[in-house]
Amino acid sequence: MLTKINHIGIAVSSLSESLAFYETHLGMALTGIEEVAEQGVRVAMLQVGQSKIELLEPTSPDSPVAKFLDKNGPGIHHLAYEVADIEDAIARLVADGLRMIDTVPRNGAHGARIAFVHPRSSGGVLTELCQAGGGY
Ligand code: CO
Repeated sequence: MLTKINHIGIAVSSLSESLAFYETHLGMALTGIEEVAEQGVRVAMLQVGQSKIELLEPTSPDSPVAKFLDKNGPGIHHLAYEVADIEDAIARLVADGLRMIDTVPRNGAHGARIAFVHPRSSGGVLTELCQAGGGY
């Protein structure tokens, strides 16, 4: 069902400050910055070999990432596994009795379609299923 780790999501207060570390010091290639309005975040994607780091900066104080930062401070927010067929992956987990945050895929950054498993069904690790969009 899973094909690889697509990305690790990291909550940050400021994209520009965090990019100094990831881009300048670690030498990662920034492949794009975009706003995902429905999740209240600005997202920077950095390529690391076949995987990516997704930096998440909140765009409003009531966005889920802003609440995460208030509670935990900056740090690892979620782990995203790539799937070939996200509807199939969701259906399998629901059939297994797992709790999903999203039973219908939503739009992620860069044309991906994503769905989150509820942390209560994933041992406290916020887990994203990600079907990559075309061209990225
Ligand atoms: Co993500």
